[in-house]
Amino acid sequence: MSQSSSDRIVSALEKWIAAAPAGAKLPASRALVADYGASPVTVQQALRVLAERGLVEARPGVGTFVLATRTTRPHDYRWQTAALGSNRRQLPEPSAAALRTPPNDVISLHSGYPDRALLPERLVRGALTRAARGEGAFSRPPIAGLPDLQAWFAGDLGKRTPAGINPPTASDVVIVPGSQSGLAALFRTLVGPGGQLIVESPTYWGAISAAAQAGVDLIPVSSGPAGPNPDDVDRALAETGARVFYAQPTYANPTGAQWSRELAAEILDVVVSRGAFLIEDDWAHDFAMSSQPSPIAVHDDGGHVIYLRSLTKSVSPAIRVAGIIARGPARDRVLADVAAQSMYVSGALQAAALDVVTQPAWRTHLRTMQAALASRRDLMVESLRTHAPSAHLDLVPDGGLNLWLQLPDHTDLAKVVRDCESDGLIVAAGDGWFPTEATGRFLRLNYSGPNPGAFDEAARILGRRLGD
Ligand SMILES: Cc1ncc(COP(=O)(O)O)c(C=O)c1O
Repeated sequence: MSQSSSDRIVSALEKWIAAAPAGAKLPASRALVADYGASPVTVQQALRVLAERGLVEARPGVGTFVLATRTTRPHDYRWQTAALGSNRRQLPEPSAAALRTPPNDVISLHSGYPDRALLPERLVRGALTRAARGEGAFSRPPIAGLPDLQAWFAGDLGKRTPAGINPPTASDVVIVPGSQSGLAALFRTLVGPGGQLIVESPTYWGAISAAAQAGVDLIPVSSGPAGPNPDDVDRALAETGARVFYAQPTYANPTGAQWSRELAAEILDVVVSRGAFLIEDDWAHDFAMSSQPSPIAVHDDGGHVIYLRSLTKSVSPAIRVAGIIARGPARDRVLADVAAQSMYVSGALQAAALDVVTQPAWRTHLRTMQAALASRRDLMVESLRTHAPSAHLDLVPDGGLNLWLQLPDHTDLAKVVRDCESDGLIVAAGDGWFPTEATGRFLRLNYSGPNPGAFDEAARILGRRLGD
């Protein structure tokens, strides 16, 4: 067989295919042998190449046919430029950074999700199997969610509710496919296009991105290792007339800050006195290490706090399930938005999520996972202190998945990130967690990713690139 003669047939047939309608039958192999003066083996080889390129499909005993989607000529999408218009709602850069899938041989500290080794995979597999066997898996669940899962979310918050406050009920809960879509729903319904939303700065890049998509303008309030100053929140609400404050009072992403009880009470007072909502994103509820999460929502039964809790990160990325707890007309608006956007979350996933979090083994798993997270956090902190002493940590967080590391002011952040990457270390530049200009050079380092054994080497690489 001659390779060059196979190539010759491939390029001739590519031209033929480009001009042929989808489904057209190629000349029979015998005809191709004659047309190209090639051996049957060479013709078969050429047809295989075309099939691998996705141009044709061989149907044994029938013939070879042109596939519907072919890529022999470049697409022309220029018309979409005018139809789509300007792209003001573009995703901010770091979303790509935090979600990227790195090659296997690098140390990755950029991701936002925990490594599989920290997740209850056996529990989840069992739960998915049971869910697939159950009745619920094949019927359409109510828009607000499976009643038992709604009751679980309400009950888990309700059991912390102090005397004198009415705990949430199952019907206050709306199940959504992950917190990210919950944030988008809340920003659309409670703020809306052109409206203003007060946020901590820095804050979760996904919230910045969801707000941009919803056409919402962000009003930043500075937030440090102890959380924001209540006077700043009050001023921002008063000056702008905004009626919604999005915050992460427990192990904030990225700073790791946990608000004290006093601060939480003061901010709740501010929000109530201004007739506003607080969206409490309790994303890291299950990732407590050295303190207890204490949701603000348990102190409010007036419908001011809208509580968002995800199971995606702690149960499994395969189980995209989160709960929004909202009361009053706000809950009805959120439900209407969810109905319009996603209609409902798969009953099988909801049943599996409920199965996992109601197993006795779930609590055992949480304790083991939290201990593993704490030792990873300590290992990373120690490695950074030893090998990158010019990098500064304001806070060793009591929970969550990340360290928020401040680099010296003169650092060229983009260059450090690039240099680290060329040395095999992927880190996320902190800029994308700021709703406006960054106030310093930061890196967000995730200690829950794969291979904690490489933390020491990661810190050495960073230290070297910082000139330590
Ligand atoms: C603060 C915060 N909120 C929400 C989310 C989104 O969570 P989910 O995976 O449930 O969409 C994340 C994910 O990183 C997060 O960090």
